[in-house]
Amino acid sequence: ESYTVLLPAAGSGNRMGAGFNKLFLELDEKPILIHTLNVFEKDSACDGMILSVKEEERPIIERMLEQYSITKVKALVEGGAERQQSVAACIRAHQTDGIVLVHDAARPFIRQEVIVSLVDTASKYGAAIAGVLVKDTIKVALDGIVKETVDRSKLWTIQTPQAFRYGILKEASDKAEAEGFLGTDESMIVERIGVDVRMVESTYDNVKMTTKEDLLFGEVLLKHRRQ
Ligand code: CTP
Ligand code: MG
Repeated sequence: ESYTVLLPAAGSGNRMGAGFNKLFLELDEKPILIHTLNVFEKDSACDGMILSVKEEERPIIERMLEQYSITKVKALVEGGAERQQSVAACIRAHQTDGIVLVHDAARPFIRQEVIVSLVDTASKYGAAIAGVLVKDTIKVALDGIVKETVDRSKLWTIQTPQAFRYGILKEASDKAEAEGFLGTDESMIVERIGVDVRMVESTYDNVKMTTKEDLLFGEVLLKHRRQ
């Protein structure tokens, strides 16, 4: 089944500390943003992309799309102060039935097999998110004292893409907006409308470029995949 991907790209990259949007930083001489867009440009199941961007960055991004021959971008919409608002802007701009993926522009290493699995699961059940099982031992601590060790066999680190039938995501987004609810991912707003969200096992290398160390990991991953 085909899908449209919504890509929030309107962040500031504060934790990266570059002094500008981290998506413009380069890995192997190509902006992170372009690495991510190329995944979808090359996926024949992807019908189109909608990006949310900062208004002042629109010209830079338009130039990049042209320079790197990215052809599937249907719209660049204005992002908001919070990630959820940037995604909401993409959702409003789309207005078409079918499967939509929401994917952080800052995750360039998403694998094709995971995308396929998310799209299949969302078309069957309505909602599916990518994640990996937690590797570390997780404890709850209060005032510096360990209170509890959590059973990690049921704990997942959540990533993007997150895949939904458009109607489900739209309803969830409208409700969150009307009620002033701010979640940290799309799953949270969809869980609130009572839809079961399915876990799809992803890979540990689908890292988000968030801090300086992630760039080092990113360089290594690129080198490895080129081999
Ligand atoms: N994003 C967005 N609009 C916002 C905030 C974030 O579109 N108001 C996007 C980012 O551009 C990124 C994705 O959401 O592609 C994931 O967010 P994150 O990794 O937190 O990026 P930033 O918000 O840019 O970084 P930071 O939180 O360190 O400032
Ligand atoms: Mg952020």
